[in-house]
Amino acid sequence: MNYDDLKIPTHVAMILDGNGRWAQERGMSRSMGHEAGFENLKRLSEYIFSKGIKVFSVYAFSTENFKRSKAEVDFLMNLFEKKFKEYADLLKKKNIRIVFSGKKEAPLPDGVIEITKEVEEETKDNNGGIFNICLNYGGHSEIVEATKKISSLVKEGKLAVEDITEENFYHYLFQDLPPIDFLIRTSGEVRISNFMLYQLSYAEMYFPKTYFPAFDTNCFDEAILAYNKRDRRFGGIQNDSKNS
Ligand code: IPE
Ligand code: IPE
Ligand code: MG
Repeated sequence: MNYDDLKIPTHVAMILDGNGRWAQERGMSRSMGHEAGFENLKRLSEYIFSKGIKVFSVYAFSTENFKRSKAEVDFLMNLFEKKFKEYADLLKKKNIRIVFSGKKEAPLPDGVIEITKEVEEETKDNNGGIFNICLNYGGHSEIVEATKKISSLVKEGKLAVEDITEENFYHYLFQDLPPIDFLIRTSGEVRISNFMLYQLSYAEMYFPKTYFPAFDTNCFDEAILAYNKRDRRFGGIQNDSKNS
């Protein structure tokens, strides 16, 4: 689809949900759903950046997802260890910077932590877009960690309390990104599940029933058309301006 005359959100975020149900409905194992989800993310992220979206955040694994069976967690971590570098190389060639939000610590396996650090380093000078992958991520934890960073700076005399603002608070989050304009959660669940709570304050939200492995580029086009029909008021009054 041609995006030329459309409002393009600067920051799109996605909660990649429904891999398990997609597979189970097809008589497949949940693991196969995760594999299909991974392949879909590859196609979709390339498409999204090709349409001029500057920042794309995805919820890939929450802190709470460690509650799942050891077999499922191990499968997901192995999938990342085996396949992520190749995916990162594709995006690297497209000048995309890859960053990770979440705690880079156990229970994430050492191999996974190592890859996240390597990929961040290898792509840090790219400026064609930012791909923010939330891994071992929790929204409450992000705000608490930011508060700790700020408290330490204040205690050391490096930051004055009156200089803490709503705008510069972003700087202390896991990654310093712009606010989210558009959130998509696949699979029909209508909840946030502890995702990017600070950044979502005025995001438009979209909850398609489609499971993530089936959410293709046509589904994304439909989502962008829905976004274009929204009137973003930010607490003000209705207007027709094409604010993105
Ligand atoms: C999303 O799909 C992927 C992760 C949370 C890792 P789910 O695994 O949550 O799939 P459903 O919701 O059980 O269908
Ligand atoms: C949210 O999905 C986390 C990710 C997609 C990574 P979940 O499937 O874990 O969320 P709940 O448990 O349905 O809220
Ligand atoms: Mg789920």
